Formats: sequence, C-alpha cells, structure tokens
Amino acid sequence: MAQLLITGGAGFIGSHCCDVLLEAGHQLVVLDDFSNSSAIALERVADLHGLSLQRQWAEHHGSGSSISLIEGDVRERQTLDQLFTRAKALGRSIEAVIHFAGLKAVGESVQQPLRYWDVNLVGSQRLLEAMETHGCRTLVFSSSATLYGTPEQVPIAESAPIQPINPYGASKAAVETLLADVAGCSGCSDPVQSSPKGWRIARLRYFNPVGAHPSGRIGEDPNGLPNNLFPFVTQVAVGRREALQVFGDDWPTRDGTGVRDYIHVMDLAEGHRAALKTLLAGPPQLLTLNLGSGQGASVLEVIQATEAASGRSIPYRIAPRRPGDAAITVADPSLAERVLGWRTQRTLNDICRDGWAWQKANPHGFST
Ligand code: NAD
Ligand code: UD1
Repeated sequence: MAQLLITGGAGFIGSHCCDVLLEAGHQLVVLDDFSNSSAIALERVADLHGLSLQRQWAEHHGSGSSISLIEGDVRERQTLDQLFTRAKALGRSIEAVIHFAGLKAVGESVQQPLRYWDVNLVGSQRLLEAMETHGCRTLVFSSSATLYGTPEQVPIAESAPIQPINPYGASKAAVETLLADVAGCSGCSDPVQSSPKGWRIARLRYFNPVGAHPSGRIGEDPNGLPNNLFPFVTQVAVGRREALQVFGDDWPTRDGTGVRDYIHVMDLAEGHRAALKTLLAGPPQLLTLNLGSGQGASVLEVIQATEAASGRSIPYRIAPRRPGDAAITVADPSLAERVLGWRTQRTLNDICRDGWAWQKANPHGFST
C-alpha cells in the first residue's frame, strides 16, 4: 500500500477520507494548518483504527496503515520540501497526494478574494512545484460543482460550461486550468485525457458533501453560523439554533424550494479511494469527474428526512431567495461510474441518520 500526503486532511472531507484510506491499508501523512479544523478529528480517526496519531514522524513506519500529522501551511515551499525529503529518508517516498487544503466559503470569498486566491491557487501551485521537484506526479484534487455556476441544463455533465460566479469558484476553475497545463493537456476539455507530461491527476468536482461517519465520532464542524443547509438543519434539531430560513419557496421545482445533489461524505471518501486506485494502476492521465449521487432533494425534503431521523421538529420560515442560488443542481455521475467503477451507495435517509448521530453526540462539534 502507498504512502500518501493528504493536505487539509483534518477537515470535514479529509478526515473521512483518511478513515477510508486507513481501512484500505495506506500510510498517511497529513499536512494541515488547522485554520478550519481540529487535530481532535485526526485523533479520532486514528482511534477508529486502533492507531495513535504520530506527531513525531521519525518514530515508526512499519508496513501496516499509519497516520502522521505535520502542522503547516501548504503555501510554504520549505515545509513541503522537508516533508518529501523526510519521507524518502525514512525509506518510503510519497507516492501520491490528495489535495483538500483550501478555503471554501462562498460569501467569505467575495469579501476576501485575495486570501482565497492565495490559499487556493498559490497553495496548489507551491504543492505542484514541490511534487515536480521530488518526482511525485500523482494527485487527486478537490474541485467543486460550484464552477458550473448557474447551470443551463440538469443533470450536469462534465462537459457543461465552466462559468464560476464568485471568487471561490473562480479559484477552483483556475487550479483546474493549472492542472491541465501541468499535465500537458492545455486547451483540451475531454474529461479523460492522456498526460504527455507523465502526470496522473484527477480533478474531482464534488456536488454537496454532507452527513458524517457512521460512528458519530467525526463530522462537519463549521465555524460560527453555518452557510450551508445541512449543518444548519442539524443545529436547529439539536437546539443550538431556533429556526431555519428557507431561501425561497417560489423556485421552479417540485415543491418550490431549491434542489441539490447531496452526497454522503463516506461515499465521497470512497470516490477518492477509487480515483487513487485508478490513477495508480493506469497510464499517465488527466481525469475530470463529477462526484454526486445523480439524485436531487429539496430543502423541504431535507427538513422532513432530518425530522424523521432525529425525532425532533425543525421549525422554519420562508425567507427571500439567496443571491447567487440556482433552482436545481444535480450531477450526471455516470462518467465517474464508468471510469472509476464507483457510485454512491447511501441514501438521503442514511445521510440524515449519520449527520444527526454526529450532531447529537457532539452538539458543539469538536469543542464539545
Ligand atoms: P474544510 O475546511 O473542512 O477542510 C479544509 C482543510 O484544509 C481544513 O482542515 C483547513 O484547516 C485546511 N487548510 C486550509 N488552508 C490551509 C493551508 N493554507 N495549509 C494547510 N491546510 C490548510 O473543508 P472541506 O469541506 O473538507 O473541503 C475540502 C476541500 O474540498 C476544499 O478544497 C473545498 O474547497 C473542497 N470542496 C468542498 C465542498 C464542500 O461542500 N464541503 C464542496 C466542493 C469542494
Ligand atoms: C453552496 C455554495 C456552493 C458550494 C456548495 C457546497 C453558495 C451560493 N453556494 O451551494 O458554491 O459548492 O455550497 O459547499 O453559497 N438553504 C436554505 N437555508 C439555509 C441554507 C441553505 O434554504 O440556511 C438552501 C439553499 O438556498 C439551497 C440549498 O438549501 O437551495 C442548499 O444550500 P447550500 O447547502 O448552501 O448549498 P449550495 O447552495 O448548493
């Protein structure tokens, strides 16, 4: 099994992905600056596998799965160089990188565009430079369905136009372009392309990642007032917030509220494992894939499913539409299934059950 670098591995998606990759037997080195996460998440992930989180990376590395933590910033070239060099010196080079580290709040990106471009684009650039220098050319990148902007057609295929409508989305689109250039695939939009420069890269466009680990020990822990529907709904259910605002009931959808493609974070994590396996086993290539369920759920359906899972009532009131929202975004995930042999396994009810178990056991997230 491979030694992997996981940037941003302490975050919501990264921590669940670490769990799935440890299960597969990999050795993980997590680089995170904890700007939006807690080391407790990784301690719990290690604990789920009967491991301890290594903070002194020199100590061990046998052949079984392991997880080490380096606290640092992905924009720091020196930190990255030391990390690749150290791995080599310990006899196990980093074979591949999964790059989650980044900033993700749409509204904040409008307020702080320079910070978003710096962390998301410059962070990715520094990482690619270090990978090139140290001869590691396999990368899975966290892209987002946000780069489709307001879609012209649903379900959304990978060939849909890229038209981001905020700095966050624009920074993700820019990294996608950078990755195509690095792979030697500039100007070609095929979602499966061979890489003349010998890179193996997957650009994974996530739809709406939600839910939590079935153990209830790790989950999403947003800072302050949640921007996104799911954490807001579970925080209302647990009594942390009084009521939910439903942003518009006059959308052209089956019940008038917005429809999204919610994907269980464990399904998403398994999508990363499948992408990594496909890249490592295949020829140099650049893959661009939607990771979604292909199913849409409305805001009211999410409320009802969470009420059923929690046994609590979720008060809500109808509010004006949120600027920048689309009526419906749903993935066409068929290419990911063909290329990776992966598809989502979990339903909206599974999402609500696991998300609720996490929220109930950790009403204040990792600071509980
Ligand atoms: P998250 O904020 O929970 O995780 C990101 C992690 O990166 C955090 O642990 C944070 O501390 C770390 N980080 C941030 N800047 C860093 C830096 N400069 N150096 C090192 N570490 C840094 O977010 P998430 O939901 O787990 O998202 C992971 C990735 O997936 C992000 O790139 C995000 O843009 C992308 N994405 C997320 C969603 C979503 O809805 N959650 C949707 C599409 C794409
Ligand atoms: C948001 C981001 C998007 C990002 C995605 C996943 C915006 C405009 N878009 O998308 O770029 O990729 O998260 O992180 O922020 N809703 C309510 N009340 C709430 C919150 C949300 O009714 O308090 C509704 C929204 O109007 C929408 C649905 O719930 O119809 C889902 O919203 P959200 O969870 O924020 O996800 P996206 O809008 O898909």
